[in-house]
Amino acid sequence: MAKKILHNVSVKGQDVRSYTDELRAKYPIVKNTSHEWVLLKHEDVNFAALNDESFSNNASRYLQIPNGLDGEEHTRYRKIIDKYLTRQALIPYIPVFENIAKQLVKDLPKGAILDAVNDIGAVFAVRAQSKWLGWPKNLETTLLAWMKENHAATRSGDHAWTSSVAEKFDDIVQTIIQSRRHSANKLNNSSAIDVTAQLCNEKVDGRLLTESELVSILRNWTGGDLGSIALCVGVIIAYIAEHPELIDHIRKASNNEVEDIINEILRIDNPFVSNRRITTCPVKIAGQSIPKGARVKLHWTSANRDESVFNNNQFDPKKNADKNLVYGIGKHACPGRLLASWQLRIALQTLLANIDNIALISEQMPEREVAPVGGYHRVPVIFT
Ligand code: HEM
Repeated sequence: MAKKILHNVSVKGQDVRSYTDELRAKYPIVKNTSHEWVLLKHEDVNFAALNDESFSNNASRYLQIPNGLDGEEHTRYRKIIDKYLTRQALIPYIPVFENIAKQLVKDLPKGAILDAVNDIGAVFAVRAQSKWLGWPKNLETTLLAWMKENHAATRSGDHAWTSSVAEKFDDIVQTIIQSRRHSANKLNNSSAIDVTAQLCNEKVDGRLLTESELVSILRNWTGGDLGSIALCVGVIIAYIAEHPELIDHIRKASNNEVEDIINEILRIDNPFVSNRRITTCPVKIAGQSIPKGARVKLHWTSANRDESVFNNNQFDPKKNADKNLVYGIGKHACPGRLLASWQLRIALQTLLANIDNIALISEQMPEREVAPVGGYHRVPVIFT
């Protein structure tokens, strides 16, 4: 017998976590007002992510490299991208990220109210990603303003606004690419040129990547991920402020342990909410028969809080690590996982090495984001 399903679900304007917790207790799958089948349970999200032949990623009308590609075509582009995100490729950036974090923390006014999402997370994300990509320092204000507008547009659910903000980002990236294509042509020694210029020299099927392919790749590396890193920093700082017993523990922990703790905090409060798929054939999932061509949403935030898998969501970094879906799973699992993990760890370790305590402010408690965005909108804190 088919399991229960709820139709016309609108999560807009609600806290993603509490709302999907309530839904998941009654329904493994719901249909939202955009006619998408939303998978809420860990088992089903995991199944769909691993079953990439039945669940296609070709779900957007925009070119999305590599996330919107399937099969062989995806593998060809993914190979190019993975090279830039290996341990070996990223190790030289560790001191770079450490310096950025040290300077940022040094400049933070002690004893003043700061917003962990915008004053720390967003600024650190923009500086760290710009250094990695070799983007000019004077782009910082433009990128921060863009992030703010992108966030507001996503929050509003206004598609025309979201598209126009996406176009603005493409314009920024296009200008950078044009200057890098020029410098890449002039330089033969690829180790002397920055990541963006190296990417401009990459070939697929024996030809250089086109400008729209480059824009799409760089959009995937920055457009969403700057926002994700900023939201993650907000979630981590809010959690630690509420659990001050973790501060000393983190100060003494190894790098791997700190990364496990961060991943567990993000599992409980995952701000990277969902990804889309389209069925390529009729599928049976979550007790429902779904036709070919149906739109499906993999709800990472909900799956990561599935009580049946995570022992009622008890904080347990070691035990829960294997099932953690913060960076996805399967063919499309996040290639930027190492970069993001290192950036988040370095930001947290540097902060904790330079302050005694993090205090929340009783008159200004953290403001939750509302669907479709996860995490916090604002986390007011005072460092002492
Ligand atoms: C905390 C930050 C981040 C989180 C939580 C995150 C999470 C994810 C998740 C869940 C996916 C799977 C998407 C799917 O299955 O359709 C993904 C894919 C992806 N992520 Fe990340 N990510 C983060 C940071 C980054 C960074 C820093 C980069 C690159 C610089 C990056 C690049 C990508 C790309 C290119 C894909 C698409 C992979 C594919 O389709 O093969 N991510 N990410």
